[in-house]
Amino acid sequence: MEYKIAVLRGDGIGPEIVDAAVGCLDAVARRFGHTFQYSYPLIGGAAIDTTGIPLPQETIDACRSAGAVLLGAVGGPKWDSLAGHVRPEKGLLSLRSALGLYANVRPALLYDQLRSASPLRRDITQNGMNLVVVRELTGGIYFGPRGYREGKEGQEAFDTEVYSIAEIERIAVIAFQIAMGRRKKITSVDKANVLESSRLWRATVNRISQRYPEVTVEHMFVDNCAMQLVKDPSRFDVLLCPNMFGDILSDEAAMLTGSIGLLPSSSLGGTKLGLYEPIHGSAPDIAGTDTANPIATILAAAMMLSSSFDLLEETVAIEKAVNAVLSKGYRTADIYTPGDKKVSCSQMGEKIALEIRKAK
Ligand code: IPM
Ligand code: MN
Repeated sequence: MEYKIAVLRGDGIGPEIVDAAVGCLDAVARRFGHTFQYSYPLIGGAAIDTTGIPLPQETIDACRSAGAVLLGAVGGPKWDSLAGHVRPEKGLLSLRSALGLYANVRPALLYDQLRSASPLRRDITQNGMNLVVVRELTGGIYFGPRGYREGKEGQEAFDTEVYSIAEIERIAVIAFQIAMGRRKKITSVDKANVLESSRLWRATVNRISQRYPEVTVEHMFVDNCAMQLVKDPSRFDVLLCPNMFGDILSDEAAMLTGSIGLLPSSSLGGTKLGLYEPIHGSAPDIAGTDTANPIATILAAAMMLSSSFDLLEETVAIEKAVNAVLSKGYRTADIYTPGDKKVSCSQMGEKIALEIRKAK
């Protein structure tokens, strides 16, 4: 079969990690007899440098005409002084919004092989960690009214958290569906002791929960959740979060698994067209050094194969290859501990691709 993938390499370490993931997709293509047809539209700083804006219309069109989008990362110091609406990050946010990708799924799995890379004590990691952050992606404070105005004491800036019932309902439904395929437990994260939008969030989640009697629901304030995550991450199954809380907690969850370089994500919105990206940023400090960890992006490509193309066996092949390479002791700098075999970003990609190509 032939599949069209829009590959958005982006900025910083984006090109390096994406190239490693494309190498793994090529390995999948060879082993399973598929053809992946790649296009390389521009986004973020790379698009600003060439076209003046972070998300050219051609990029949106190329993504819409593809079956899935694979993205590296956007942003960097070069574009930090630009106004909010022309920053690289705005390109990514606008793409998520333009494609209607409201459901962001970020699985955080602690690999046995990486226990020593986790900053948690061994008596905590021994219980394991296998949770998924379901993050609302096209609403909340990221997209609410914002601006500058004259206040009593001079200029002020403001951003607004806004959620409609419909927006909460649709992301809650996704979380419940995911929970049904897992340990059937949802922790809905909010700040309902302070925020009105959180009280609507909580009431709406409670209403949706009546359709899923098998799923246990608890509500947790975001500050408490940040604490419970480091205390005992094994207690969580599905974390249902508004946009901003999901952004913050997924970075925390990632680090608990050993590195932010390990967590993939998928973003979907009612069609098969999904956006797949690592949860981390463009890491400008190590860009171009071939030291980044490509595993998050490789696992994002794996999520793409099953979620957008229904290629389940192919997804498993990539996940198994990642596992095998970790078991053999290969580590990028971020997850390296003395005694491991240190590899570069491109070497990690090649090792995983090699495992994928191996016969079953
Ligand atoms: C993420 C990133 C983005 C976000 C940035 C780059 C806009 O941090 O995907 O988690 O905040 O959503
Ligand atoms: Mn983030």
